[in-house]
Amino acid sequence: MIKLAVILPAAGTGSRMRSETPKPFLRLKGATILEHTIRNFLRVEGLVQIVIATSNKWKSQAQGIAARYKSENLDVDVVEGGSERQFSIHHALQSLNDDVNMVAVHDAVRPFITTSLVELCCTEARDHGGAIVAVPAKDTIKRVDTKGFIQETPKRSTIWQAQTPQIFQRPLLEKAYKKAIAEDYFGTDDASLVERIGGKVRVIAGDRRNLKITFPIDLRVAEMILEEGTFDVPQ
Ligand code: C5P
Repeated sequence: MIKLAVILPAAGTGSRMRSETPKPFLRLKGATILEHTIRNFLRVEGLVQIVIATSNKWKSQAQGIAARYKSENLDVDVVEGGSERQFSIHHALQSLNDDVNMVAVHDAVRPFITTSLVELCCTEARDHGGAIVAVPAKDTIKRVDTKGFIQETPKRSTIWQAQTPQIFQRPLLEKAYKKAIAEDYFGTDDASLVERIGGKVRVIAGDRRNLKITFPIDLRVAEMILEEGTFDVPQ
């Protein structure tokens, strides 16, 4: 039986947003981005724990939010994040409940993830080791050297843009993190850590609305998605 924990890294500083308030705590139509994100997980089958990693400064805000979503069947915990996303997740992994057997990592700043996509990703991860949500690259991607010259143009049809959630069998993700931290390896997503220890990771075609709110323009797009009313926001 799936017992899923979701780690929500929310300890970024928001420098690219040019905002004093970190992105997960910015408000979007009456609720913080973090709350929008949490709501989309509440109905996921097998969900038993949510762990929010946040900076010390925003800990009490995160705890206030956590208290609102805690229930008899769901633990919502707050841990201190680190200076890199990878450290934030590593900390969160230390506070998983004993009964958790699957772990999802989902950027706190991706508020448009659907319950059905999380569930599909989770069953694929259970069956294969790991699974991530991604979309086919719409731009041609170039590998560029430090002097600004193109080194390689990978065939676009083979290139996908990784999003989150990225879901793994718990022992596999724990092993991958342990090894990466021990060897000072930094990846920009969780799957890359699992790949380097030989783990199999399935790619699930996702939804372009599952954007990562990073720049001010993304906030405008997020408002438009909510105004349009096509994204079913669970209350
Ligand atoms: O910076 P980036 O866009 O990769 O951030 C993705 C997610 O990771 C965000 O939700 C951000 O708050 C989180 N993060 C974190 N700890 C850091 C940096 C980013 O939890 N040190």
